Order: sequence, then C-alpha cells, then structure tokens
Amino acid sequence: MDNTAQIDYWNGAAGEKWVRDADRLDRMLQPFAEAVLNAAKRCSGQRLTDIGCGAGALSFAASDSGALTTGVDVSEPLIAIARRRAEQRAPAANFVVADASAWVPDVKADLIVSRFGVMFFADPVAAFENIRAGTMPGGQMIFACWRPLAENDWALMPIVAALPFLKQPPAPPPPGTPGPFAFGNPDFVTDILVKAGWTGIRISPWDGDIELPGANAEETADFMLEIGPLSRAIAEQGIDPVKVRQALVSKVRSLTGAVGHTYLKAAVWIVEATA
Ligand SMILES: C[S@@+](CC[C@H](N)C(=O)[O-])C[C@H]1O[C@@H](n2cnc3c(N)ncnc32)[C@H](O)[C@@H]1O
Repeated sequence: MDNTAQIDYWNGAAGEKWVRDADRLDRMLQPFAEAVLNAAKRCSGQRLTDIGCGAGALSFAASDSGALTTGVDVSEPLIAIARRRAEQRAPAANFVVADASAWVPDVKADLIVSRFGVMFFADPVAAFENIRAGTMPGGQMIFACWRPLAENDWALMPIVAALPFLKQPPAPPPPGTPGPFAFGNPDFVTDILVKAGWTGIRISPWDGDIELPGANAEETADFMLEIGPLSRAIAEQGIDPVKVRQALVSKVRSLTGAVGHTYLKAAVWIVEATA
C-alpha cells in the first residue's frame, strides 16, 4: 500500500500548520476526544493504541483515564510535539512515528481509538486488517470521522464565503480518495471494516456546534485560511489568501459580531467495532 502522498502531506505543509495550531485545534476537537472515550467499554488498565494521534490530545485523555497508551502517527513534527507534551505530564504516553497500515506493535492492544486519524489510508481494507492484527481478539475499536462536507458548516461556510475569489468551486474528490471527508458514507465505512474482518460494527451520529478558534473575527478568518478544505483549495488554485480574508472576516462578523465566539455545526460518525 502506498501512503506516500499522505505521509509527505502530513510531514510537509499540513504537518506544520497542525503543529502551529495544535493547542487551538485541541480545544476545537475536544468534544470528539470525549465522545470516543465515552464509547469505550473500559479504558482503565487497557493497552490502547491511538491511530493517527497527531500531537497526542486523545492519547493523553486516554492515559488520564488509566489506559496504557501508544500513539502512532506518520507525522514527525506532530509526534515531536506529542513527545514534548508527554515529558511534561504524568501519566505519559508513548509515541511512535509509523504508518498505522503497516505498523506491528510489540504487544497487541485491547482498545484502538482515533480522532479523525483513519481516513487517510490508500488501501483502507488492508490498513484496518493490519490494525485488527495488532488488536487482541474481542478488542474494541472506536473512532471519530467526519460526515460529508455538506453537513459540516465549520468547513463548508469558509468555502462558500470564498467562492467569488476561487477560480472554480473545489471539486469533491472521487469516492474512496483518502482525505478528511472520505468516511462520510457509513455504508462505505461498514464495507471496509467487514472486509477487514471487524465485527459488531455500530455507527452513531454526533451532531453539535463546535467553537472555532479565534478571539475575534480576524483571528477566526486566519484560522479558516490555515486549516480545512478552504486552505487546500486556496493552495491548489494558487489564490492569494489576502484577497479572501476580508470576505471571511465579514462572514464571521455577520455570525458573531466583531468580538465573539464562532460556533458552527459539525457532523461526525462515532464508529465502533470489535476485533
Ligand atoms: C486530522 S489529523 C488528526 C490528528 C489527531 N488525531 C487529532 O485529533 O488531533 C490526522 C492525522 O492522521 C495522521 N495520519 C495520516 N495517515 C496516517 C497513517 N497512514 N498512519 C498513521 N497516521 C496517519 C496524520 O499525520 C495526522 O496527524
């Protein structure tokens, strides 16, 4: 399986952005660390693997709940942050730079978790087979993945506001292309997991508003230019972000006023399965 494109992406510009925004992203995505761990039958004492752990927020939350945690991620800069954070806290967690689709743990896990870290495999069936091979029989897996972009205002709104400045509306990637919204269709996810040998698959919706980073409209606009599908479209189409910024600031102001907190709708699947 060739994950080179995603490995390069998460070690390049995207990794740098996630490093810069690690604390702010963790606050925005905190509800999903809670949702994943709340679905665990048991956390305390479990040998747990966090797939695509990034800077480690979910790994640390799991350790705080008593799990023996290993975070796995392809991104060297994000794992470097996770390791720095681990030095400053107890209980800590271990972190490994590895492609989760091929990584073999020394000891099998009882519990696999992920917060938006499993939608990037070139061959998801082979990846989830490998993850299952690294899990004790009967072990539980829980992950959060985004539902389709059209249901996620936090990612869609910036694109709509920026449309007049884009050369063309960003085309939805062909079905099955790795990316943040690749697991929007629950039948697609079920099919992958069944083919990979997982059983007891349960997919539940999480609906709510999430708070976007930024103490004012300008900061929130800058965040929207940095992270999410709009940032990809701007980079791919060679658009000057400065041109788009004012439209985003105006849109955010229309939602929240000059100073305020921007809450936008998020739609997520919480997926559970048994090895
Ligand atoms: C959207 S980020 C989520 C990071 C983290 N779970 C969080 O919630 O902050 C996706 C993560 O998946 C990682 N990733 C992508 N492909 C991977 C692979 N094949 N194996 C391990 N990690 C991978 C990326 O490097 C990135 O850190």
